[in-house]
Amino acid sequence: MHKVIYDTDPGVDDAMALLFLHRHPEIDLIGITTVFGNASVETTTRNALFLKREWNIAAPVAKGASVTIDPSRAEREWPAMVHGDNGLGDIEVPEKIDVALDPRPAHRFIIDTVRANPGEVRLVAVGRMTNLARALKEDPEIAGLVKDVVIMGGNFYVPGNVSPVAEANIHGDPEAADFVMTAPWKVAVIGLDVTSITTMSRSYLGEMAAKGDEAVKLLDALSQSYIDFYKHAVEDGMMVHDSCAAVYVVAPELFSSISGAVRVVCGGIADGQTIIQPDGRRFPPGDWDGLPSQIVCTGIESEKVIDLIRKALLRV
Ligand code: BDR
Ligand code: CA
Repeated sequence: MHKVIYDTDPGVDDAMALLFLHRHPEIDLIGITTVFGNASVETTTRNALFLKREWNIAAPVAKGASVTIDPSRAEREWPAMVHGDNGLGDIEVPEKIDVALDPRPAHRFIIDTVRANPGEVRLVAVGRMTNLARALKEDPEIAGLVKDVVIMGGNFYVPGNVSPVAEANIHGDPEAADFVMTAPWKVAVIGLDVTSITTMSRSYLGEMAAKGDEAVKLLDALSQSYIDFYKHAVEDGMMVHDSCAAVYVVAPELFSSISGAVRVVCGGIADGQTIIQPDGRRFPPGDWDGLPSQIVCTGIESEKVIDLIRKALLRV
């Protein structure tokens, strides 16, 4: 069983990945931590509690960061045009959910859970990297105690989605992302290179909803306006960004990758750009020497990934 802490900003595609992690038979979802991003952390936390209740998820929810790791960064606006004002495609979600939050802040929850399960925890982070960076800063030893970190974020050989060179999760907190990428732990980066070519059509999701239970029907309903948003890039369908990272946990063989040191540009017109120095290449004067080698996914078997998602979602 893969023990997973899911660090997320639900978020429509976050919701699909959550249902995947909850239902996949080889995954033990042991915690959900929330972060600002697709909406404020109040909203993403409320959404996580809502989905936990609706989908009967046992894992505790811990509320995380509301702002970037460097507080001097100006706040950015929430992408309401992508995920709706309420972060879940503007379906009806009660203001308050009667489900208890874990009393700890997300980064403390991560530290405690990693320490209680040395060598076992896989951190799947699909929002800003702020909670992970905070956990690392507070307890650097956890780097040697997690099994690995799987990130949805970044773009290496394709354009960004919030600037010509940057992807939303990284651009939303570049300092945190740079800290996480260069820490001495194993990171697999699942970025736009693979997630932007992995799409699910409205009709495919609709067919799953027709066959599936109430959970899949809810997912279908909350995804509709997100699919509308994607019409500039996908023919009546959506990119399943965060689910690609979730699938990587159980099926890394569906991805091809390169490895090397990864850095994030912090500031200027390339703010949030992710860069890899592939292993075996060394560019003088050696600024990148000594950084850990991370995995960067550059290829994906999209159809198989979509099929795995379908199988897990329809499994009750
Ligand atoms: C990422 O940004 C958010 O909109 C999605 O949930 C995903 O994690 C894609 O760039
Ligand atoms: Ca997300």
